[in-house]
Amino acid sequence: MKVIRTIAEFRNHRESFGKLGFVPTMGALHQGHLSLMEQSAKENDTSAISIFVNPLQFGPNEDLSKYPRQEAEDLEMASSVGVKVAFCPSVEEMLGRNTTSVTVSGVSDLFEGEKRPGHFTGVATIVAQLFGIVQPNVAYFGLKDLQQCAVIRQMVDDLCIPVELKFCETVREPSGLAMSSRNNYFSPDEFERASNLNRVIVVCAKEIAEDFENRKSAIESAINELANLEFEVQYLELVNSLTMQPVTDQKVGQILSQKLGQTEKESNPYRIIVAAQFCGVRLIDNVPLPNPLAN
Ligand code: PAF
Repeated sequence: MKVIRTIAEFRNHRESFGKLGFVPTMGALHQGHLSLMEQSAKENDTSAISIFVNPLQFGPNEDLSKYPRQEAEDLEMASSVGVKVAFCPSVEEMLGRNTTSVTVSGVSDLFEGEKRPGHFTGVATIVAQLFGIVQPNVAYFGLKDLQQCAVIRQMVDDLCIPVELKFCETVREPSGLAMSSRNNYFSPDEFERASNLNRVIVVCAKEIAEDFENRKSAIESAINELANLEFEVQYLELVNSLTMQPVTDQKVGQILSQKLGQTEKESNPYRIIVAAQFCGVRLIDNVPLPNPLAN
């Protein structure tokens, strides 16, 4: 495993990497990251990661200083799934002279964008910079951060960045809890109970797919059930994951009267998204709306 800490050194080596797959991370790696890396190693000549805890995407009241840092362990884990290059720059190296920022409007506006002002500008700015440094052929992102995927897709499209994007399904604990670095903050009991978040939105998605007209009451009862289970829900909504807008009535026909095009049938864009505070930890998750046409 080659560890590179400066932009200049990465540039010097880039050509020798051939077709390059790239998984940007903030470290604290878990199985979700590793599955992206495994796929990247399979599909490219070289698989690279970055480990950079990006201060730009943390709000003033968020957990930047508390964010787990475990570089040696992360490098070992990445290496075990075929990663050959790790770009691990300092904050000074990345942001020392940075006065440009990238804001992707529209897809950034609601949900996480609303709850975490500036977050997606921080993400888009650093990902654009990383793409400029690493020049990957293919970049891999987990769908757990659904809105982040939409923001990066839009940014790459708008700025004509020559990279292929792959968005991969969320890796979960056996209980259904989405893997996340923040799960480390839970006690064993809290860890078990946190899986209710996924269970409730899976049921909600199924209810809406079966009875779209009653989606508002399905969403309301999911929010109530989560409240009874000690989740403080910040949002729970049915969205089109490409636009990150709530699904409107006009979409009813498209979803349920079997008028979806072939592409939409294959990659159903409709998802239930949720964010909630549980035992002092902020969790997000999302699941696809089961598509009657997919069966
Ligand atoms: O998903 C993450 O870990 C971060 O948002 C990313 C994409 C590495 C940018 O800092």
